[in-house]
Amino acid sequence: MPISQKVKESITRASWIRKMFEEGILLKKTFGEEEVLDFSLGNPTMEPPEEFFAELERLAGQKKNGRHRYMPNAGFSEVREAVAKQISLESGVAFTPQCVIMSCGAAGGLNVAIKTIADPGDEILILAPFFAEYLFYAENHGIRPVIVETDENFDPDLDAIERSITPKTRGIILNSPNNPTGKVYGESFYQSLNELLIQKEKETGQPIYVLADDPYHKLAYDGLKPPPAPKFIKNCLRITSHSKDLSIPGERIGYLAISPNCEDFQEIVDGATFCNRTLGFVNAPALAQRLVAGLQSLSVDIADYQFKRDLLYNALKETGYEVQKPCGAFYLFPKAPLSDDLHFVKILQEKKVLTVPGTGFGRPGYFRIAYCVSEKVIQRSLDRFKDAFDEVAGGNS
Ligand SMILES: Cc1ncc(COP(=O)(O)O)c(C=O)c1O
Repeated sequence: MPISQKVKESITRASWIRKMFEEGILLKKTFGEEEVLDFSLGNPTMEPPEEFFAELERLAGQKKNGRHRYMPNAGFSEVREAVAKQISLESGVAFTPQCVIMSCGAAGGLNVAIKTIADPGDEILILAPFFAEYLFYAENHGIRPVIVETDENFDPDLDAIERSITPKTRGIILNSPNNPTGKVYGESFYQSLNELLIQKEKETGQPIYVLADDPYHKLAYDGLKPPPAPKFIKNCLRITSHSKDLSIPGERIGYLAISPNCEDFQEIVDGATFCNRTLGFVNAPALAQRLVAGLQSLSVDIADYQFKRDLLYNALKETGYEVQKPCGAFYLFPKAPLSDDLHFVKILQEKKVLTVPGTGFGRPGYFRIAYCVSEKVIQRSLDRFKDAFDEVAGGNS
């Protein structure tokens, strides 16, 4: 057996994504990069803001001794201070540098957070549709992901959450603005969830932590400010990165911020710092930490994403697709005009349009379009989305 059975199984379960990816590469080879319209990955084509490059140049000129050495596993204190200042400003909660652990992207931060709060055999709630990697992150640490369905508008269902809580529940992952739906959760949801979790904590003596996975926090449209989870949730671990808001996913820089209101605050900080080290991250990249310290309040041009959202959303609606207007992030999650989302994605693929079936996000019957691409790609896709729709017209059979 060359590789572990568990890894083999995981690869098989994720195989449709791999298939899409590999078929996409093949299509691009056959027809040329230009001809294939790739909406499959949330890998933004937008360049980082100018300030990022200015900071990069400035830092490259600093050749003082020791700038590239190890540092405390939680990161440089001055970077943690800059991050704490920004979250305090956004949330109204007094985060200190001690609350912040710099991480290798949100993915690294999530793995650290999950491992820190739960033992093997414990459970983490995940709202469907979900970012598919959550399942693997939980399983990395022997923790059981428990899927909780949202309603037909992708709004969280508090009763369903309550029904899913067991004595083994240690946390719930929330992602707003959401991948894949673009949904932004409202203040009243956070308030009600907090009440529910406090009630459960009273019953069991065991806190249930909210892992607020926030990489799209700054990407919201029409002037909307997504409610900051730590403002409303007592036991909140906020995990985020600059992969999307500064368009630098390759730099692997993000952080985990533990609310000072958390039950067992210091233990969580110590545990997460230890996990950051022993999961093999050791610390977030030194240069990337310094790079983002002064860019905390910045983001890429939201107006550009909003323009692309409107362009694609309006065209899909006009064609006849059933689709919700996303309030944030850069994904559309329309209903497939066929009940078999895999089949519909295949039809789009034949038209050289790459999307991802909803099945992979735990919501079959839908498909995801990542519109973090150029306007030209969107413009060229409109006829193809229409052709695919017309081909299966007759509706959701
Ligand atoms: C909801 C969500 N969480 C986490 C991540 C991981 O982000 P990062 O690149 O910062 O690890 C992504 C990336 O697409 C995401 O969509």
